[in-house]
Amino acid sequence: MSASTSLKPVLPPEIRARKGGDPIVVLTAYTTPVARLVDPHCDVALVGDSLGMVVHGLPSTIGVTMEMMILHGRAVMRGLSKAMCVIDMPFGSYEEGPEQAYRNAARLMAETGAPAVKLEGGTHMAPTIAFLTARGVPVMAHIGLTPQAVNTLGGYKVVGRGAEAEVLMEDALAVEAAGAFSVVLEKVPEGLAARVSRTLSIPTIGIGAGVGCDGQVLVVDDMLGLFTDFRPKFVKRYAELGKTADDAIAAYAADVRARRFPAPEHAFADILPAKSAAKDPK
Ligand code: KIV
Repeated sequence: MSASTSLKPVLPPEIRARKGGDPIVVLTAYTTPVARLVDPHCDVALVGDSLGMVVHGLPSTIGVTMEMMILHGRAVMRGLSKAMCVIDMPFGSYEEGPEQAYRNAARLMAETGAPAVKLEGGTHMAPTIAFLTARGVPVMAHIGLTPQAVNTLGGYKVVGRGAEAEVLMEDALAVEAAGAFSVVLEKVPEGLAARVSRTLSIPTIGIGAGVGCDGQVLVVDDMLGLFTDFRPKFVKRYAELGKTADDAIAAYAADVRARRFPAPEHAFADILPAKSAAKDPK
């Protein structure tokens, strides 16, 4: 059964079992109202650390903190009734080693109620993923372009061309062997992503990785046309809500300046004290 018709919340084993089945639908969500919109249509709502750029105006995801992830994770959980919530582990919260990763993953899960976390990295993160999964922390891995490593990668580049292809395949096999229940492939050439997807027994979730993945994820503000600072090639705009909002705000400002708003129907009538004949001497 597709998660979108299930009445109980989706959990990681169900996502893992979707390998080879209906494509897995994932969008980011950072707030309760957006989680409510995403919930009926998606299998997974990802509280991505992209919220640093999209919601908080940071230049990259590097400045995102545990406190930000917990605050937004709680908000998203309040808006979900069946889609599974996955929370990103922010930069600096897991790279020191498995114990640090466990402490922070357990905090994210305990303080938000989300049943899974996502972290970036392939082969070098495999021991951490194995440590977490052995201790009750389901992990969605994230390889290819890993935005938290933008400074070492030298930009938001395609990862996996030429000699990098076999490194990416090794990363994919390593996170699978470590126990990840799924893996995000970001900005990976489509042929390679399809090959990785055919090779792995866990679902691949693509973003800029072509149609051969087991599922797809986009940043919700990108596909709604709300976040327009970047326009990556892999984003399809399904709406232009930024333009709609700009038009609406401009119309409001013009109405206020012209005293067209508020109109009588937006105001409250005064209630005058009723005149009483008995009390009125005239
Ligand atoms: O932070 C994020 O939103 C992500 C997805 C785009 C995969 O990691």
